[in-house]
Amino acid sequence: MITVNDLRVHPLDQVHRLIEPGPVILVSTEWQGTPNVMTNGFNMMVRHAPPLIACTIGPWDHSYTALVETGECVISIPTADMAATVVDIGNCSGADVDKFGKFGLTAVAGEAVRAPLIAECWANIECRVADTRLADSHSLFLLEAVRAWTDPSQEAPRLFHHRGDGTFTLDGPVVDLKAHMTKWQYLV
Ligand SMILES: Cc1cc2nc3c(=O)[nH]c(=O)nc-3n(C[C@H](O)[C@H](O)[C@H](O)COP(=O)(O)O)c2cc1C
Repeated sequence: MITVNDLRVHPLDQVHRLIEPGPVILVSTEWQGTPNVMTNGFNMMVRHAPPLIACTIGPWDHSYTALVETGECVISIPTADMAATVVDIGNCSGADVDKFGKFGLTAVAGEAVRAPLIAECWANIECRVADTRLADSHSLFLLEAVRAWTDPSQEAPRLFHHRGDGTFTLDGPVVDLKAHMTKWQYLV
């Protein structure tokens, strides 16, 4: 019989490495006329429709204040070829540097929010903050997607995922299990 003695203890401060969240994303804001962007690894879909997304954005981030003050942002989804730039974006602050200029990002005006879309990214989701009740205690924002865009020139985007230790997993082969989705036919 297997007992926990046959298993390896995993440190609690590294549990985040076991549960891989969504792809690494960029969150852009515009506050006091200045656009900014941060890297975000702790995110997940919460609801299909209207689409709701949860993002952890800490008060140490310049973006936190921008999000609280404006109630708006854009979630941009970069592809694997942008990975090193995206990590660099997450290692400096908009409080000190113009990240759009420094990283050569092309800001595109959206339709619903003032925060810019990023042309280099495969997808862009315009969001409004829907719930900040857990922002103080857990840095958790619920964001409602109000417009979403994809780049038609990127047919098969390869996203990348944060493993929590400075290494990243790139999207691999796609497995089609639609035939098994008997209860959830409306999703396929
Ligand atoms: C791969 C990666 C993932 C990150 N994920 C998060 C995250 O989920 N939440 C967060 O608050 N900061 C996260 N960060 C840190 C922010 O991106 C970083 O603090 C950034 O400098 C904030 O920029 P700002 O001060 O311009 O808002 C991450 C950084 C990296 C490199």
